[in-house]
Amino acid sequence: MQDALKQRISLRAYDARPIEPDKLRQLEEAISRCNAEMKKDADHPAYLQLTGPHLEDGTAVHMKNRSIVGPIYHYIAGFATDDPIAREMIGYYGEKLVLLAEQLGLGSCWIAETFDPKTLAQTEREGLDLQIIISLGYAPATIPLKQQGIRTAIRLRTKKPAQIMTVNGAPAALSDVPAWFVRGLDAVLLGPTAINKLPVVFDLSNGAVSASMPDQRHRVQDFDLGISKLHFELGADLAGQWEWGQPGKFIRA
Ligand SMILES: Cc1cc2nc3c(=O)[nH]c(=O)nc-3n(C[C@H](O)[C@H](O)[C@H](O)COP(=O)(O)O)c2cc1C
Repeated sequence: MQDALKQRISLRAYDARPIEPDKLRQLEEAISRCNAEMKKDADHPAYLQLTGPHLEDGTAVHMKNRSIVGPIYHYIAGFATDDPIAREMIGYYGEKLVLLAEQLGLGSCWIAETFDPKTLAQTEREGLDLQIIISLGYAPATIPLKQQGIRTAIRLRTKKPAQIMTVNGAPAALSDVPAWFVRGLDAVLLGPTAINKLPVVFDLSNGAVSASMPDQRHRVQDFDLGISKLHFELGADLAGQWEWGQPGKFIRA
């Protein structure tokens, strides 16, 4: 899992090579487990669903602008109402699936904005609206230059671990926190993030970790909160469970 955290990078071009049935089965099983976990929270309905090729050209969804990502042959759709907690849960569980895909040798990309909704298989499911998709599949033998450029340009990373942490709610230095906390922050910095802002801040107060987004600007950043919480938990090797929402505390097992 640590390797998957380090190796993952958004894949912005896909090959027509189909995903093998055994890998699709493993993904479907993991999606079922995620849906079962999310179903426990009846107040914040959210659902993940795998979709394969269904369009005439053999793909599953087109992009509004083909230079960003695509075409895409498989994607996982995240359905929810307009609910920050449901979006956060989709971020947390969806990122588990992204890391599983990485372990299966598949590339992925979270896509909230740039897809063409007219080409989706479904935009609504049992009263829940499609909020985001995660593309899945193999990289082509050579990534087109345009997408390679976007990949490196968009991925510019300027944040340092100390900029995404506080101690007792106040700015602090890395030397003020234990090594496991720093490992958590390092894993967060490796994660995908909408509009490349990484808005999540982790606080350490009396040995307890909590996560929030003091400068949240966009609803799409609710996904970032869930993604970052998962990365922190895995990087710091914590056993237990996050409270959803802000500030959400990690409750140790
Ligand atoms: C919630 C979320 C939404 C995203 N939406 C889009 C999108 O609409 N189009 C796109 O090309 N990339 C999208 N991305 C991918 C980000 O651009 C990418 O994660 C970021 O640039 C960091 O690069 P990396 O994933 O390679 O580390 C999204 C990422 C996240 C987490």
